[in-house]
Amino acid sequence: MEDAQLYVSANALQRRDALVVLTEYLPQMAWQEEGENILDIGCGSGDVTRNLLMPLLPRVEQVTGVDISQEMVSFASKTFQHNTLAFRQLDIERTVQPRQTFPDGFSKVFSFYCLHWVKDQPRCLNNIYQLLQPGGEALLVFLAHNPLFSMYQNMSEKIEWNKYMQDVSNFIPAYQYKSDPAQCMADVAEEAGFEIISCEAPQFEFVFENINYLKNAIKAVNPFLKRIPTESQDAFLMDCLNELAKLKTQQEDGKTVARYNLMIAHLLRPE
Ligand SMILES: C[S@@+](CC[C@H](N)C(=O)[O-])C[C@H]1O[C@@H](n2cnc3c(N)ncnc32)[C@H](O)[C@@H]1O
Repeated sequence: MEDAQLYVSANALQRRDALVVLTEYLPQMAWQEEGENILDIGCGSGDVTRNLLMPLLPRVEQVTGVDISQEMVSFASKTFQHNTLAFRQLDIERTVQPRQTFPDGFSKVFSFYCLHWVKDQPRCLNNIYQLLQPGGEALLVFLAHNPLFSMYQNMSEKIEWNKYMQDVSNFIPAYQYKSDPAQCMADVAEEAGFEIISCEAPQFEFVFENINYLKNAIKAVNPFLKRIPTESQDAFLMDCLNELAKLKTQQEDGKTVARYNLMIAHLLRPE
C-alpha cells in the first residue's frame, strides 16, 4: 500500500479505532512532567499521527512518525508540517540496531494498523524494545484476525488471480489463525524483554454505509492490486467484494458490517 492520497480518503475505520483505543489507553500511561519523545510506527499518510495522536497527548511533545514506504513519508512530511513533528523512513522489521538511527530512543512508542504487515514478530518486538528508553511504554494496535485475509487466501486459489498472489501467505497476519492471538503476542513480547501491562484481542465492528466505501477501503490497503493489469483491476476488486460477502454479514439495507479482532498490546520496557 503506497497510495497515500487514496489511503487518507479511505481510512475511516482505522481512524475510528485509533480514537477509541487512544481514548481508553492514554490515561492509563505514565506521563512525565516534560520531555516525552514519542514514536509512531507505520504512520502511513500521517493523519492519525497529526490529527488524532498529537492532540490527545497530555502536553506538547516531540513526535516522530516512521514508515517503510518513502511515498507515505513524503506525503506525510508535505501534508502535516508541524514544529514538533517529523517523519522518517524505517522498516521496523528489518532495521538493525535502530538506536543508531535514533540514539536518544523514545519514552513512548505507538503503532496503529501496521504490525499485521510484519511476519517476523520476534524481530519487530525486539526492535521496538531497543527503541524504547528503560521505563518507556508501547501501545501496539493491529489486526489480530480479519475475514479480509481469508478472502485473500480464497482469491489466490482462483485461476484468474493465482499468478498475482503466489506469495499470499506473506500477507496473512502472524496471529490470524491462532486460537488465542493475544496470548501468542504476549509470549513474543515477554520473550523480547517486555513486561505485559495488558494484551487483548477484542472483537470490533465497523459499518460501511455503502459498497463504495468498502470497495475504496479494500483498494487502499490491497497489496496485490498494483500487480494486476489496469484493465482488470476493477474486476479484481469486485471479485474481492463477492468473496468477502461470502465470509461476512451483509445487511439488507446495502450496509456491510465488518467484524474483526484488534490486538491491543500495552507493554512496558522495565527500568
Ligand atoms: C494501514 S497503514 C496505517 C497507517 C496509520 N498508522 C493509520 O492508522 O492510519 C499501515 C502502514 O504500515 C506501513 N508498514 C508496513 N510494514 C512496515 C514495516 N515493516 N515498517 C514500517 N512501516 C510499515 C505501511 O507502509 C503503511 O503505511
